[in-house]
Amino acid sequence: MSVFAGETPPQEVMKKMSKIYGDIFSLKIGSFWAVVLNNYELVQEALLTKPNDFSGRPPSFLFDWFTDGQKDIAVANPTPIWKYHRMLAHSAIRKFASGEYLEKLHEEIRPLLTEVMSKKMKTTFDPNEIITFAIYNVIASMCFGYKYKIDDPRLEDIAEISRELNEGFGNGWIADFIPWFRYIPNPHFYSFKKVASKFFAYIMIEVRSHLDNFDPDRPANDLIDLLLKSQKEEELKGNVDQGSKLTDIHIKQIIADLFSGGIDTQNITLLWAIACVVDNQDVQEKVKKEIDDLIGDRPPRLSDRGKLPYTEATIMEIMRYKSTKPLTVTHRAMKDSKIGTYNVPEDTWVFINLWALHNDSKYWNSPEKFKPDRFLDSSNSVKQRLPSFLPFSTGRRVCVGESLAKANLFLTFVWLIQNYKFTKPPGVRGPVTTEGKPQLISFPMPYKIRAERWE
Ligand code: HEM
Repeated sequence: MSVFAGETPPQEVMKKMSKIYGDIFSLKIGSFWAVVLNNYELVQEALLTKPNDFSGRPPSFLFDWFTDGQKDIAVANPTPIWKYHRMLAHSAIRKFASGEYLEKLHEEIRPLLTEVMSKKMKTTFDPNEIITFAIYNVIASMCFGYKYKIDDPRLEDIAEISRELNEGFGNGWIADFIPWFRYIPNPHFYSFKKVASKFFAYIMIEVRSHLDNFDPDRPANDLIDLLLKSQKEEELKGNVDQGSKLTDIHIKQIIADLFSGGIDTQNITLLWAIACVVDNQDVQEKVKKEIDDLIGDRPPRLSDRGKLPYTEATIMEIMRYKSTKPLTVTHRAMKDSKIGTYNVPEDTWVFINLWALHNDSKYWNSPEKFKPDRFLDSSNSVKQRLPSFLPFSTGRRVCVGESLAKANLFLTFVWLIQNYKFTKPPGVRGPVTTEGKPQLISFPMPYKIRAERWE
């Protein structure tokens, strides 16, 4: 069975294989051995019980090149420097993308979104444009301290670069599995390099303009300021060497991680969210009624979380049903260890199949169905700490942006459904979209919908 080469997403092939070989099995991919974990208990054991054993990242030709030799957060192996970079990322999210700051950001973006949406009324359109506008604005504000205007060419540029980057990551894997492939001319890799250079150039323009106006005594206004200030502090401590904890390359890479890691995952989740409510009008009506009953016309606030159980259950079900990052980022055994009764030698790659966890019939009744109610208990409250539900993974490498994503998805989704009714274009009978070409993130195929104001 071919895991990565076919049309079926690898996570689904791996789940099928688990029916034959068991929930944990090994694979030889090119020159490397990997184990695949397909159930919650195994994932808990590897990531929570044995974080020192399974928090590594495998070497990757493509990612090593992209991250200047693992100088980022997502691809770096766990070291004190990596821990420090994660701490800085958390700090930026706390300061520039949470609580009142995030609410204020949404207040500023909403009139622009309303303007974009007003042009879409009674037309058939691709929701990607609106979602891109909403998500890029939050992440650009956190990273760069600015917001995009409507029809901003900078937004169009970076959205196109990101799309091409994702495709490149999807295409460029072969040299990761079969090392000698990296010595063979590979047109995918050349075009990936070209688009990656454009991406980093975009980031460096922002870094340079921050450096030009940088004043270490002024409070940081965004992630770049925060990183530059932290670098200054390191210098004051005498850590001036470029081999130190926060070099210019680290700064570029941390920004790249938060910028790209924060955008596609949220974009895709919202694209699936719109598709799911378009295909399930009963769910959309129920969410709308709950929002009307609790908050009426006023814009949503973060303090509404916990008070809109059906709406929150719907967002959780979207994350289960569509598992945005189905195979996490690949892990690596950092020493000889065990999972279950199996010996796992050092350097084995570890695939965490979140999609399998989210579709495990031991935990989910009819997992192939979209049913938000499954996240509610008998008193209509959202079930807490559900097993076999890990959209952000778990343990030492858990998603850095989890709190931001949850808050931001809530504010965006609630506002969209509060204000607009989304429907299929005339003549579309089946689901409005399907799974796109397998990539690291589960993209839907581009699709079109209609929107109108609620009566
Ligand atoms: C719906 C939204 C999101 C989903 C579903 C998601 C999911 C994930 C998953 C599954 C991982 C891999 C964890 C592992 O390897 O075990 C991850 C890692 C990561 N995510 Fe997210 N993510 C989301 C949003 C964000 C946002 C908003 C940011 C930043 C602004 C972000 C930044 C990162 C970073 C930096 C990592 C690497 C962490 C590390 O390797 O230590 N993510 N995310």
